[in-house]
Amino acid sequence: MGYRKYRRCRSAAVSRIKDDDSIRYSDELIEEIRISNDIVDVVSEYVRLEKKGKNYFGLCPFHREKTPSFSVEAGKQIFYCFGCGRGGNVFHFISLAERLDFTEAVRLLADRAKIQLPESEDPREKKKARIKQQIQDINLIAARFFYEALKSKQGEAATAYLKKRGISDSTARKFGLGYSNDGWDDLYNHLKSHGISEEAMLDSGLVLKGSSGNLYDRFKGRLMFPIFDVRGNVIAFGGRVLDDSLPKYMNSPETALYNKRKHLYALNFAKNHIEGSLIIVEGYLDVISLYQSGIHNVVASLGTALTESQGRLLKKYANEVIIAYDADTAGQAATMRGLELLTDTGCSVRVLSLPEGTDPDDYIKRNGADRFRKLVDNALPLVEYKIKTIKTEHDLSKTKEKIKFLNKAADVLAKVDNAMEREMYIKRLSREYEISEEAILSEVLRRVRPSARQIRRITKVAEPAGKTNSTAAGLKEKIIHGERFVLSLLCVDNSIYNVVKEHFKIGKFIWEENNRIAKILYKRIEEGYGVSPPELMNTVSSDESGIFARILNEECHCDDNEKAILGKIRDIELLKAEMRRDQIIDLLKNKSRLTDDEVDKLESELRELIQEIKRIKEMPEYKMEGRG
Ligand code: UTP
Ligand code: MN
Repeated sequence: MGYRKYRRCRSAAVSRIKDDDSIRYSDELIEEIRISNDIVDVVSEYVRLEKKGKNYFGLCPFHREKTPSFSVEAGKQIFYCFGCGRGGNVFHFISLAERLDFTEAVRLLADRAKIQLPESEDPREKKKARIKQQIQDINLIAARFFYEALKSKQGEAATAYLKKRGISDSTARKFGLGYSNDGWDDLYNHLKSHGISEEAMLDSGLVLKGSSGNLYDRFKGRLMFPIFDVRGNVIAFGGRVLDDSLPKYMNSPETALYNKRKHLYALNFAKNHIEGSLIIVEGYLDVISLYQSGIHNVVASLGTALTESQGRLLKKYANEVIIAYDADTAGQAATMRGLELLTDTGCSVRVLSLPEGTDPDDYIKRNGADRFRKLVDNALPLVEYKIKTIKTEHDLSKTKEKIKFLNKAADVLAKVDNAMEREMYIKRLSREYEISEEAILSEVLRRVRPSARQIRRITKVAEPAGKTNSTAAGLKEKIIHGERFVLSLLCVDNSIYNVVKEHFKIGKFIWEENNRIAKILYKRIEEGYGVSPPELMNTVSSDESGIFARILNEECHCDDNEKAILGKIRDIELLKAEMRRDQIIDLLKNKSRLTDDEVDKLESELRELIQEIKRIKEMPEYKMEGRG
């Protein structure tokens, strides 16, 4: 095929952070891990692959299909699915298959290849990593200690309490439940016997220091709930009293390892049972009770109103989130905030209504899993839930109140982007309250403001909306695609670098993301390390890995890469000229907004562009490529 042999990248200089609280690994190390995990071997652990030609094919593990459209290319070490468009290198595969983020996938594959991950070079990072590891070790020792205590004589009351709550032994074991003895320093002494330093105990938050300097246990006489991260490590604890005393729950404080705003209780279990949607409840015991009844796609926020990080986490695992908060007022206010936040992160949200004064645990115990599943099916979409809530706040038998209600409903509907959806709700309101659709619509439209993007577009280029606009968008999309092809082919064949660099200086790509990628690739080539397709995958965002995989898989098969790249460069130059031409034509349609001088300038630029387009189209190489 004439591909140049990929040179192994050896760049220790560049390193980057792939997610917010990760350790930095050097590109060199990431590359070593990647090379040690052959993509065909790794994928074979998940998918039955069959060799056809130089590629392997199998049934895609990421979407349902009957005929194989999932391909793995051993030469380029990438995968791509023609059915669902997912693609990338071995790290992307693992992060999709195991639902891990990039760094976690790197760690898993390092483990698989028995590659030791070094601690960071930065002494501050090093210390932080050590503290985190220590807290994790302490938490594991403590979890075992609590677990044993629950089984012991001292744990009898807690065992009885679990029984009263209807939690079986096997469920308690699954969730690692335990008991903290009612002494002052049982855990402290236990940790000490494991050789844990007092400083580390304090770091973990499980042990506190009294005013006289003595150390004592945070949790005493409580039913203990270990809190796991997605990978199943114990990162904190919650502890419930066995009676009605207060505070009902005590939780581990924020530590180097634990940030309650960033985690969701039981996500480590739920992530393997998403079934399209994830149910979010308030309490540890709600999760456990639902889980025991066979509803496994449940998580709980950790005693806070939903945060943005949790929203992003949810979005990563499920497209739809169903909020099942307690039916009390505090629960409802939290629901509203959660709703707003989740829709902002792009999740589709529905709200499940529980009878007044009950929580999911009560409900499922009284009514069983099937009735709970019905509630899930009947959960209301965001807009309907909001309108329903507003309705309960007004006495609709009074005209004045009814008008208030309709005004507020119009506020809600004005935020619905989808015109069809909006119309459906308007129809429904009109029918229900005998107000004409037109009247409601005009109220809604009065409230609809152009989006920030629309305003920017109007003021910046003063281009009329409509057909010309959409062809401009189409041209832009084609240019971006061409740029991605250029970057992809560069990684297949580093020898075209000089040609590429000459035509695409950093900053000249019209898509900022492509400038960012090019900067990394150029640097490595110039430093003599070279780049290969799977390394390109490391630098593109996970949203775009599928797009690049498709280009690498389908388009980068040329006999003469230099000719292909020159052809593509011409394509892009032509598209850019055409885009600018269309832009000028649009601007000139509104001459009244321009000064005579501006009109002259635009007209002369237009003449030049038309010449330029003609010149490009007549180039012999261009005709040879059969374009135009
Ligand atoms: P709930 O009071 O609903 O607790 O608080 P629960 O888990 O359902 O327990 P039961 O059924 O009443 O026994 C919901 C969540 O809020 C946090 C905990 O995470 C709890 O699971 N919380 C509640 C606290 O952190 N501290 C508290 O004092 C109370
Ligand atoms: Mn409860």
